[in-house]
Amino acid sequence: MKKVIIILFLVACSTMYGQKFEKLALTPPMGWNSWNKFGCNVNEQMLRDMADAMVSTGMRDAGYTYLVVDDCWHGERDSLGFIQPDPKHFPSGMKVLIDYIHSRGLKFGIYSCAGYKTCAGRPAGRGHEFQDALMYAAWGVDYLKYDWCFAEELNAVGAYTTMRDALYAAGRPIVFSLCEWGTNKPWLWAANVGHLWRTTGDIAPVFEGSVDHGNWSSWGVMKILDMQEGLREYAGPDHWNDPDMMEVGNGMSTNEDRAHMSMWCMLAAPLMAGNDLSSMTRETRAILTNKEVIAIDQDKLGIQGYRYAAKDSMETWLKPLSGGDWAVCFLNRSHHPVTLNFDWNAQKIYDEFSKMTLDAALNDYSITNLWTGKTLGNTKIPLKALVPIGDVVMLRLKKNER
Ligand code: GLA
Repeated sequence: MKKVIIILFLVACSTMYGQKFEKLALTPPMGWNSWNKFGCNVNEQMLRDMADAMVSTGMRDAGYTYLVVDDCWHGERDSLGFIQPDPKHFPSGMKVLIDYIHSRGLKFGIYSCAGYKTCAGRPAGRGHEFQDALMYAAWGVDYLKYDWCFAEELNAVGAYTTMRDALYAAGRPIVFSLCEWGTNKPWLWAANVGHLWRTTGDIAPVFEGSVDHGNWSSWGVMKILDMQEGLREYAGPDHWNDPDMMEVGNGMSTNEDRAHMSMWCMLAAPLMAGNDLSSMTRETRAILTNKEVIAIDQDKLGIQGYRYAAKDSMETWLKPLSGGDWAVCFLNRSHHPVTLNFDWNAQKIYDEFSKMTLDAALNDYSITNLWTGKTLGNTKIPLKALVPIGDVVMLRLKKNER
């Protein structure tokens, strides 16, 4: 009898560990994160204002659910080692702020780091994982972004798995976002650890090229796009490649912002806006909240799109969708506008990874231009369209029953 009780106890213990919370991110998470625009300038009033803006701008209703505070919310640990927010910028404490965010119909995300300090030098998780997870659960946190600074001598699989187990043991379902920049190829091991993992270093608000910060560089949108090559087979419902938070509204042209948003949706990327939502322009808002474009990202099959063809800086990207539909995105990376003449019937497209076929000779697809909202007939006739510089023509092909 004693033996049976011990075995039952061990089985019960083992179910507490060894797994992540499942089904929290069946489609790529969507939300807003403070880092890209505000860096270390975070405080409770600003986050309340941003929550209000998420509601009033229609971002929440478009699907952006998580409001995530990035680095620099931290104060010191208390005498028992529990992390506290910076009392100057978060005088009401985290629980009050998070209750407010929840009252606006949003979820709350927080940031920490696997090393002993965050990238901005605040107290981080190493050695405090279980204690931090308890605190996050008590505050009502719904999402954790976990960074990789001051972690050189750590084993990434071990460090992130420890935090996963800590979250699970604390009992509150929390989306776990790994931010180790692709250094240890998380796509190979993180599907059971977290719900999304960064594939690259940091993004910058530039379209092409990179930004030099002295001893490190951040990457333009197109460079990050190129770095996703070869990763699509590792992503899917509940485990996503994360090409970083968006820079839409942070200084690129409207065309480039549109291309950026489109490509993130083609990649089935997590959509974390990174701009000031309280002062965004009408154009920025229209880009971020286009429901038909977002639907490509959020398609329930969760298949990451791929570059089907590239010629003279014009790229054709494809993404298989549920119901036999396809998203098609023509991306102009050249320095002149390009007139497309795309004969659907000349291609028989078979995607080896998803085993899905786009065959316009065999099937009938009606075409919608997702940025203009216009229907463009069907795939029986070749597509003629102009793609401006640094912009896209993004289409949904809807498969019609014959
Ligand atoms: C790293 C991450 C960024 C951001 C900063 C905060 O650079 O990759 O996304 O969280 O740290 O310091």
